[in-house]
Amino acid sequence: YYIYMLCGAGWVKHGDHGRTIVAAIAMATVVPVTSMGITGQDLESEESLWDLYERWCAFNEVAREPDEKLMRFSIFKQNVRFIHENNQGDARSKLGLNIFADKTHAELPKVEADCTSAGHLPYHFDYMPHTAITNEDLPDRVDWRDHHAVTSVKNQGQYCGACWAFVAAGAVEGITAIKTGKLEDLSPQMLVDCDKANLGCRCGESWRALDFIKKNRIATDRAYPYDGIQRRCHMRADGLSRFASIEGFHVVYGSERALMAAVAIQPVIVEIGLDIYFHYYSEDMGMYTGPCNKTITHAILVVGYGTDAFLRRYWILKNSWGTK
Ligand SMILES: *[C@@H]1O[C@H](CO)[C@@H](O)[C@H](O)[C@H]1NC(C)=O
Repeated sequence: YYIYMLCGAGWVKHGDHGRTIVAAIAMATVVPVTSMGITGQDLESEESLWDLYERWCAFNEVAREPDEKLMRFSIFKQNVRFIHENNQGDARSKLGLNIFADKTHAELPKVEADCTSAGHLPYHFDYMPHTAITNEDLPDRVDWRDHHAVTSVKNQGQYCGACWAFVAAGAVEGITAIKTGKLEDLSPQMLVDCDKANLGCRCGESWRALDFIKKNRIATDRAYPYDGIQRRCHMRADGLSRFASIEGFHVVYGSERALMAAVAIQPVIVEIGLDIYFHYYSEDMGMYTGPCNKTITHAILVVGYGTDAFLRRYWILKNSWGTK
């Protein structure tokens, strides 16, 4: 998914710009069906719900062991009711039975809360001034996918809280493509294994990962592939292991306009709070308008912004939870 999201959550750490969100999800080109709807009939009995669960498992090619399946079914039922209730009336965001439909909110891949609070941005950071781009120069819309500066959507896996590594790789993929014309998948796994300032699959801070890349360079994903488990750091001797680097990085500070100005220059990392509505949001083409959680546990890449036909402004977000 690319997630279109208008949210006051950009760099929330620096202050509470926690305003209302208008946001959405849409696909880059093709729009496969990625979630199933729920009808009133599905809710009629235990049997019809079980039948719905079986169809969901088949649809998503999910295999569950018999014992686990019963436990998953009870979570699924709760989610079905929650999603169905939400979708009655004029829900701001339609929810659906997406790939996370038999998981609880607590099971979403996320970093440990104590990790995000541990590392505040150091005071000497270079803040990017609001005026980097004047209002007149700010484009109405930006979509870095159109400029060959965004790689495919990745999947960090449920058991590795390495969003911080995926966004750092994604931001460097973007600026490398913009500067050199070469779009290459970079290696979150190298950051997970080798960046000792962060805590691998447990948690991390994207700015520390950028600092690591500045000092050590980053390998391509081909040279150092992802497996979603923290392992011993290893690097190949060839150039692919030290493919890209950055001179430094700025903190975008102050307002959503400042974020727009930064996104007009390159894809930008933001840290967000995961809300239960975001978890089950499933529209293939739409706009997420649900709330943001004030507790920051995730990081994503902003790859553009724009305004829709109803004059709703949105951000285009690249997540790392797979294409479903
Ligand atoms: C907000 O995030 C916290 C921490 O992850 C979580 O416990 C809580 O359920 C979330 N709230 C909602 C409404 O999703």
